[in-house]
Amino acid sequence: MITQAFQPAPAEAAAPEPAPVSEHIAPAPRVSVQAFCETVETAAAVQGAGEDRRLDKAHLKIQMGGITAAIEAFKGSPTPNVIVIETEDRGTGILSGLDTLAEECDAGTRVVVISRHNDVVLYRELVRRGVNDYLIAPIGTIDVVRSICGLFSSPDAKAVGRVIAVIGAKGGVGASTIAHNVAWAVARELQLGTVVVDLDLGFGTAGLDYNQDPPQGVADAVFSPDRIDNAFIDRLLSKCTDHLSLLAAPATLDRIYDFTAEAFDPIVDSLRATAPCIVLDVPHQWSGWTKKTLIGADEILVVAGPDLANLRNTKNLLDLLKTARPNDHRPHYCLNQVGMAKRPEIKPADFAKALEDEAAAIIPFEPQVFGTAANNGQMIAELSSAHRVAEIFRQLAHSMTGRTESKKARSGLLSPLLGKLLKR
Ligand SMILES: Nc1ncnc2c1ncn2[C@@H]1O[C@H](COP(=O)(O)OP(=O)(O)O)[C@@H](O)[C@H]1O
Ligand SMILES: [Mg+2]
Repeated sequence: MITQAFQPAPAEAAAPEPAPVSEHIAPAPRVSVQAFCETVETAAAVQGAGEDRRLDKAHLKIQMGGITAAIEAFKGSPTPNVIVIETEDRGTGILSGLDTLAEECDAGTRVVVISRHNDVVLYRELVRRGVNDYLIAPIGTIDVVRSICGLFSSPDAKAVGRVIAVIGAKGGVGASTIAHNVAWAVARELQLGTVVVDLDLGFGTAGLDYNQDPPQGVADAVFSPDRIDNAFIDRLLSKCTDHLSLLAAPATLDRIYDFTAEAFDPIVDSLRATAPCIVLDVPHQWSGWTKKTLIGADEILVVAGPDLANLRNTKNLLDLLKTARPNDHRPHYCLNQVGMAKRPEIKPADFAKALEDEAAAIIPFEPQVFGTAANNGQMIAELSSAHRVAEIFRQLAHSMTGRTESKKARSGLLSPLLGKLLKR
């Protein structure tokens, strides 16, 4: 949510937006943020951050006028959780301004300073005054997102759960099967604590696929939102393997399953705090909550069969998700059930051309091994670890958890130093 009081910058004047990076930034909680900018370019970057999915819950207000406007705004009135201040000043002006502002600041208000000057003396003075982060302009939207979210994530960001949402471009294309096998491989190969959430409440098959019949699961949580906390969710999980747990769907039809757009948010938020990897098995439907769940995920995998309807639907999904997540890297897609005898199919190369991206995996149609696995309640790798499909699931487990990405250096020369100094 954003309130703005400035004129957006003309496109050509905007600071160059860095290419979306594949880093993991945990979403910010429901905090209030007020930004006081001096340049339209910075204001535009901050506004972009306010539209980012990770600041969905935050309330962001943007004003011009820098530190002077900030002092004026908070004279005798409460301060928000975060104040972002841009300054063009490099000397005593900003420091005395911050001292004045400090008198008005409530305990717990965090301050981020944006400056054009990469100046170590100024930086030291800011740190001494308890400034929480220092960004060097020109800044991009993702820098603001990273900074604000970073104020609220634990020092060891790796402990925060990464959410992978899997959806089919059509029903029956194997999205759930792939979600379950990839989650199993993440737990087995990467030894990452993983939770599968079966969001297909009426017909979900995660229980069958993992040979589990738990009495409780996702329905107990979504129908009692006020009971949700980490301990409650923990009790609803059923353990499948050492590192894999399931939040199962009831797969019964005595209730109907209509949900509000936010219905699953508290469950996913809770899991994020406790599990390193969360795999959401999203049913093939288009509703407020499926859309919101996909947009809010860290990684998305669209599973498509090799035909025209799948291609169209995948294109629509990828286009929509790319637009809704301009600061994330693009959603992934994979092709499944490829090479069915006698069936005319659209070639992977044509998918790649139409979607302007290579498939994350191309999985062959293997009715024997998939059928046996499904009927036994086993994963493909449990049936035959050496099977080529098991190897594909291992590769997907790596790529979907970002284990194959080269970590890009954070922008800003002072960042590593800042990280060390601010660690408390
Ligand atoms: N590559 C494959 N080869 C053969 N059968 C497959 C393959 N992938 C999935 N299946 C089978 O297709 C059926 C539908 O899979 P499912 O995962 O329930 O699809 P979705 O979740 O997309 O509706 C299941 O019986 C599954 O075993
Ligand atoms: Mg399914």
